[in-house]
Amino acid sequence: MEVLRTIAELRQHTSRWHVEGQTIGLVPTMGALHDGHLSLIKIAQQKCNRVIATIFVNPRQFLPDEDFEEYPRDEDRDIKKLVEMGVDLLFAPNASEMYQPDASTTVVISKLTDCLCATSRPGFFDGVGTVVTKLLIQALPDIAIFGEKDYQQLLIIKRLARDLDIPAQIIGAPTIREADGLAVSSRNVYLSQNNRETASNVFKILKKTATTIALGNDILVACEEARSELIFAGFSGIDYFEARHSKTLELIEKFETSGRLFAAVWLGSTRLIDNLEIKDYTD
Ligand code: PAF
Repeated sequence: MEVLRTIAELRQHTSRWHVEGQTIGLVPTMGALHDGHLSLIKIAQQKCNRVIATIFVNPRQFLPDEDFEEYPRDEDRDIKKLVEMGVDLLFAPNASEMYQPDASTTVVISKLTDCLCATSRPGFFDGVGTVVTKLLIQALPDIAIFGEKDYQQLLIIKRLARDLDIPAQIIGAPTIREADGLAVSSRNVYLSQNNRETASNVFKILKKTATTIALGNDILVACEEARSELIFAGFSGIDYFEARHSKTLELIEKFETSGRLFAAVWLGSTRLIDNLEIKDYTD
């Protein structure tokens, strides 16, 4: 697997692959690769002849008080995993390759960004939108894969690709979970042993609330109960626990098949997000 640091090198490879008629799947990541990322790579490999993974801890999507400096980085370990997976190419630029010192363009997505993580992390999706747009233009893949764990991000990326006529199909992939239900995330390494045990309650409470709503109970009451249960379970804060439409992200007031629950919670200084389709999960 070649590791490329410059956009020019990346373009040499992708132009050749395009001329040869090979299809390209892109898997953008910020590194600290886990089973969730590996599942995205598998999907790209099933759908395309060539797979490019990217690793770039994008400074533009961290707020000043967030964990940009602490964000887990281990490129050697990540490269080993990508080689084992048979990825064709890793694009891992540094910040100066991605952003000119006088860079003046930001991709701002105006719909889907008035709620959830856009409210609790203002500016976050401008950073994501800008870097993902750049990666899509740099690599010109046929498809790009993103995890449903970051469901709002996935919708936003689909929207920007459509609006900017970027000729890549954006594909969402199911959330990968640990045995106890915790959604895998690079930030899970921040959790202490105690907090790690508490963390599994997010999925349990999502599932229970989804079932409660699907069985016809009041949505606002069910979400209020879920928030109390999260605090009782030991979470130190809740950014949101809400039921929204899975395409428009509008709040829903009664059960519908396209409903989804969204949660963002805090355990000390670690923020966890998760989401789940609203349906009856009783076996
Ligand atoms: O989900 C992520 O890891 C990042 O937000 C992404 C899509 C790679 C953009 O930096």
